[in-house]
Amino acid sequence: MSNAVEARALSKTYRHSGGTTDALSGVDLTIPTGRVYGMIGRNGAGKTTFVRIGATQLALTSGSMSVLGYDVMTETSKVRARIAAVPQESRPLYFLNVFELIYLYLTIRGTEARDARKRTEAVLAELGLADSRKRLVSHLSGGMRRRAMVAMVLASDADVLFLDEPTTGLDPIARREVWTAIRRAIRDGRTVLLTTHYLDEAEALSSRLALLDGGRVLLEGTPTEIRERVRQPFRLVVSGVLGRAELEPFGSVSTVEGGYLVFAKEAPARELAQLALSKGARVSLGPVTLEDIFLQVVGKAIDADDVPAEAAE
Ligand SMILES: Nc1ncnc2c1ncn2[C@@H]1O[C@H](COP(=O)(O)OP(=O)(O)O)[C@@H](O)[C@H]1O
Ligand SMILES: [Mg+2]
Repeated sequence: MSNAVEARALSKTYRHSGGTTDALSGVDLTIPTGRVYGMIGRNGAGKTTFVRIGATQLALTSGSMSVLGYDVMTETSKVRARIAAVPQESRPLYFLNVFELIYLYLTIRGTEARDARKRTEAVLAELGLADSRKRLVSHLSGGMRRRAMVAMVLASDADVLFLDEPTTGLDPIARREVWTAIRRAIRDGRTVLLTTHYLDEAEALSSRLALLDGGRVLLEGTPTEIRERVRQPFRLVVSGVLGRAELEPFGSVSTVEGGYLVFAKEAPARELAQLALSKGARVSLGPVTLEDIFLQVVGKAIDADDVPAEAAE
């Protein structure tokens, strides 16, 4: 069976009045079917560009990309019939209410009326939108509008779903509802390409992840593989008693609120944990988080400042 998405030496250069921007440079990615594939990276990394090329909304500059074996440039209509996409900048038809938005989207895609109604009801309930069904999309808050767009795509019969930051700006409960709906889509045998700012979300949902920066793939693999690729796969937080000089032989030390953060290999991590406990310091030991890896590899945090303006509504 073909993969959900294959990108080979994919590049995209935007031309604009200020010159050119290389948004993607030689990206090779294989996204298998039937799973959530997570794409993470700071603002400007190239995530939306990748998604828009896959969703046939944007032409690539060089290289190739296929969806379920169909070329996005030459077999556009075959691709379109099999995908559904939530764009990052959601601008749905504002004169519709939430029910109509989803129902019409499904019927336009060719779903028979009775089935479309049933699917719409189900997704409204699943995403906590049942009470908002009659509200005009134009009157919804940014987060609610985003949720309605996600509902629309999840209710479709598309095999490959492109979700570009579907949970940005949602409250924690709404985020969990979207997670549940994404997991159900996977149980139904579909594929989800998810871009997100939230590393916990990427980790919780994705079977594989790609970390993009500056239009290139810096890391790719299962969360476990990605962890194994970092030099120091354990993190300790040590508070009290031990000073920086005593910690430095065990790994890389940085100051954090209330103590020190140490990245270490497995043996020194265990040794340090025992030493700290025997001296009566407080210590926690665990595998590095995706956030830690991100910092190690990109050198900067995925930062709240990076969240697009739309999310601030
Ligand atoms: N329509 C456009 N015209 C010119 N430059 C663009 C356009 N869209 C995106 N870019 C630039 O391409 C780069 C990648 O952007 P994008 O794909 O939106 O990244 P991300 O989704 O990871 O934030 C950024 O430098 C961005 O400024
Ligand atoms: Mg984006």
